[in-house]
Amino acid sequence: MIKQLKTLAVVAVATLTANIYAADKPNAEEGKKLYEANNCGSCHALDKKVVGPALRGVNNRRSEEWLIKWIRNNEAFRKSGDADANKLYEEYGKAAMNVFENLTPDQVRHILEYIKTAPAPVKAKGPTENVDGASKNDDGSNLYILLTLIGIFIVVLFILSKVRNTLRRLAAERSGEILDSKGGAIRGLLPEKLSNMNPTVLTVFIFFIVLIVGSTWGYKFGITEVGVQKGYAPKQPIAYSHKLHAGELKIDCKYCHIGVEVSKSATIPSLNICMNCHKGVQKASTAEGDGISPEIAKIYKALDYSPDSANYTKAFGPNAKPIRWVRIHNLPDHAYFNHSQHVKVGKLACQTCHGPIEKMEVVQQWSSLQMGWCIDCHRTAGIDAANNNYYAALHEKAAKDLKDNKNRSKYFTPDGSVKITPAMNGGLECAKCHY
Ligand code: HEC
Ligand code: HEC
Ligand code: HEC
Ligand code: HEC
Ligand code: HEC
Ligand code: HEC
Repeated sequence: MIKQLKTLAVVAVATLTANIYAADKPNAEEGKKLYEANNCGSCHALDKKVVGPALRGVNNRRSEEWLIKWIRNNEAFRKSGDADANKLYEEYGKAAMNVFENLTPDQVRHILEYIKTAPAPVKAKGPTENVDGASKNDDGSNLYILLTLIGIFIVVLFILSKVRNTLRRLAAERSGEILDSKGGAIRGLLPEKLSNMNPTVLTVFIFFIVLIVGSTWGYKFGITEVGVQKGYAPKQPIAYSHKLHAGELKIDCKYCHIGVEVSKSATIPSLNICMNCHKGVQKASTAEGDGISPEIAKIYKALDYSPDSANYTKAFGPNAKPIRWVRIHNLPDHAYFNHSQHVKVGKLACQTCHGPIEKMEVVQQWSSLQMGWCIDCHRTAGIDAANNNYYAALHEKAAKDLKDNKNRSKYFTPDGSVKITPAMNGGLECAKCHY
């Protein structure tokens, strides 16, 4: 009994001291918060390559010093000539990772500790997939499965009936009866011409008809129905309004979605960007009294910021509540879409694809994001090939073709104006959009 009490006491003291020291040591929980608050998850997952590499195991691939330099300012680090950093950057097609100089080296150590100790995923869904957390609506794939099952069922029936016929014939041969060769349940249903055909040819024939009809239908279904979630507008954890910020306050989209011109993904801003204004703006101008808006208080809580001392103290400590924005737009993993290609090179306005975001109180998915949608635009959108170096070769070829009177119809729209489309630049090639 006494021995047990002793053990208990030792354990209690050990836990206490561990907690005291934990403040200085890298702390995974702290790291998880920072990882989420800085939206690392919008480009990284622990176990899957997203925009950037899968992060699990990075502690073994790189030294701590290297990682701190990289995460805090990969741009400067690359410029300093570090070979590994430059190699990595090239490897990822020069997709730029953000600079996180707001993070102290200690904070980066917390994040690294989190990456090191995060539990392995359950069923391939990483614990950091918060941004992707919103599962897709039912995408009709159940119907697909059902039809496949029906198809298999029909084939089985067909085979069974053939087997039955063969058995019957064998039985008939043994007993000396002569069976009508046109017998059989299915054959009886077929028109005269077909039922006279050789059974093997007939089987192959039917098989191909089913295959062609099935795959045409499946293809159509695939490009128009699967994954449709147009109009999806989930409630977000902070009542952040694009109508107010992008519409009335006229903040540039790129101020927050910093990746949009330079990388594949537009990125969701980290709360630090909000703090550029919301350190000062603590409530709506129309709100009565001088209490802090509960919505803005959520930002403070997530960042462990104390508005009283205007400092990132541990105001909320373990009660700090990280923000998990619900991801709205989400292409399937096998499709590749790149923002910089469309916004910077293609010079498309965000609204072409996202609709009037600056009027939306709550963002909703405006376009279907279906393959048919991408393809339609690639067939019809005009690109300004004359004033864009990226298209120099294409433009030269078009000018030459027109001069030589070759392929003229290719370059004209029905109304007679000249048009160069992404389709002419390979915009319909499977490999451009599929990994
Ligand atoms: C805008 C997208 C983006 C965001 C946000 C982002 N990263 Fe990255 N990260 C990348 C890309 C892309 C690379 C690959 C190198 C390159 O192309 O710059 C990378 C590389 C890394 C690497 C090196 C991995 C390796 O295999 O060596 C680490 C570590 C890393 N990021 C950590 C983080 C952390 C921590 C955060 C959040 C504080 C973060 N990243 C946020 C895009 C991002
Ligand atoms: C002050 C920062 C800020 C500005 C400015 C801003 N956004 Fe956003 N945007 C956010 C935040 C935060 C989210 C995530 C929460 C949400 O969906 O409302 C978001 C979400 C989005 C989404 C949905 C992302 C998803 O989950 O699929 C789109 C699309 C978008 N913004 C487009 C725009 C466009 C277009 C503009 C310019 C007209 C713009 N944003 C201006 C902060 C901003
Ligand atoms: C460029 C400055 C600026 C940035 C950046 C900014 N905001 Fe705001 N925000 C404002 C202003 C100004 C108001 C108050 C408008 C008014 O009512 O007068 C406001 C109001 C709000 C409100 C409404 C508060 C209420 O109670 O009505 C919320 C919520 C909010 N912002 C969230 C965010 C979030 C989240 C971010 C980061 C993604 C962000 N803001 C970035 C300037 C900014
Ligand atoms: C050609 C169509 C198109 C244009 C133009 C476009 N987007 Fe997107 N956007 C998409 C698609 C498609 C997705 C889904 C990408 C995915 O899931 O990989 C998306 C996703 C997003 C997201 C959420 C995911 C992410 O990439 O971080 C944001 C935020 C966003 N867009 C903002 C913008 C802003 C801001 C602009 C204008 C500067 C813009 N987009 C222009 C098609 C477009
Ligand atoms: C509103 C019109 C529009 C929509 C919608 C659109 N694109 Fe594009 N896309 C363009 C234009 C314009 C270009 C030419 C710019 C360029 O070449 O980078 C382009 C270029 C591309 C390229 C590069 C082709 C090349 O040869 O350089 C890819 C890949 C691509 N788009 C993928 C997609 C995917 C995937 C989708 C659907 C999720 C999509 N696009 C939706 C207009 C669109
Ligand atoms: C301009 C971009 C683009 C091109 C070119 C393109 N795809 Fe797609 N594809 C997509 C996108 C985006 C999706 C995901 C959205 C969807 O399911 O419709 C998709 C989805 C698919 C799917 C899966 C449909 C499903 O059930 O989810 C298949 C199969 C496919 N594509 C095959 C092809 C083939 C084969 C080609 C070449 C002939 C091709 N794609 C060319 C953009 C493209």
